[in-house]
Amino acid sequence: MPTKNPAAPAFIQIHRDDAQAIRDELAAGLGLPAAQIAPKFLYDALGSRLFDAITELPEYYPTRTEASIFQAHGADMAARIPEGSVLVDLGAGSCAKAAGLFPVLKPGGYVAVDISVDYLRAALGALQQCHADIPMLGLGLDFSQSLALPEQATAWLEERRLSVAPRTAFYPGSSIGNFSPTEALALLRQAHAVCAAGGTGGGVLIGVDLVKPLGVLEPAYDDALGVTAAFNRNLLLNVNRWLGADFRPEQWAHLAFFNQEASRIEMHLQARLDQTVRWAGGERHFAAGDRIHTENSWKWSPERFSALLQAAGFGPSTHWTDASSWFGVFWAPAIR
Ligand code: AVI
Repeated sequence: MPTKNPAAPAFIQIHRDDAQAIRDELAAGLGLPAAQIAPKFLYDALGSRLFDAITELPEYYPTRTEASIFQAHGADMAARIPEGSVLVDLGAGSCAKAAGLFPVLKPGGYVAVDISVDYLRAALGALQQCHADIPMLGLGLDFSQSLALPEQATAWLEERRLSVAPRTAFYPGSSIGNFSPTEALALLRQAHAVCAAGGTGGGVLIGVDLVKPLGVLEPAYDDALGVTAAFNRNLLLNVNRWLGADFRPEQWAHLAFFNQEASRIEMHLQARLDQTVRWAGGERHFAAGDRIHTENSWKWSPERFSALLQAAGFGPSTHWTDASSWFGVFWAPAIR
């Protein structure tokens, strides 16, 4: 039951967009021999809505498969996570996945981390209304750069006597797949450091998309309605906005395929015709068929992902999966 007017959650904003750095990054990517634009440019307000729509598509299995795993095995997961732990939610977004686990995990504190500061602030404010008893902190942070908790966050935990509570790094949604194996290892090492700085019993709870037949994988990234195509093309509108470029999305085709050797889905935009794209301070000619690489989504085997967790400093992992073994939720304790 919502409690009347609980205190607003604390909020610390570290991340701020640096427009010049963003322009430099975009221009550099477009200037590479094999042009690329980072997947973070998929997510403006419209891109986030399109992604939400993707999660409801019949072809896009990860979201509902992960939810079914939490539903079926949440109690078993909770048995490994000490009651009263601090849940550090990476890429919290709407905070809905963590909130769904509150009744079984019974966290002593909740730290929600996301780069989308405004969205997080609103979501966390609403969540605090329903859980007045759980201290909540919002952290506007680009954890793909660094996951180190800022001093203010450590002070916030201390003030609430939570600094010695075990910490659970919660990273659902298989977003770890959008990092290369090297980047994923670096991120998990940082997650390990965050957990190891808390009390004993901490660890990581993470959703991972697993290798599966091509006939399931590829349609998930190239759906019949064309929602993923719109999501991919919307990136060009974002580039136009940030860089003052004149991309015409209708002149680009969506391409998604599984690269077996790298074990990843690749998304590209492919020029439908010859064209020159211009922006302030630069231009590039694209011949028909030229591509811009926009996203990778790595798919892991359970064995390889367990090994990655151990390389990052975690102990032997446990994982839960669905009947088809399409998706895994892994728990691994943070060894000190
Ligand atoms: C956010 N991330 C886990 C999604 C994925 O499956 O890699 C992004 C996505 N791209 C296209 N469809 C979904």
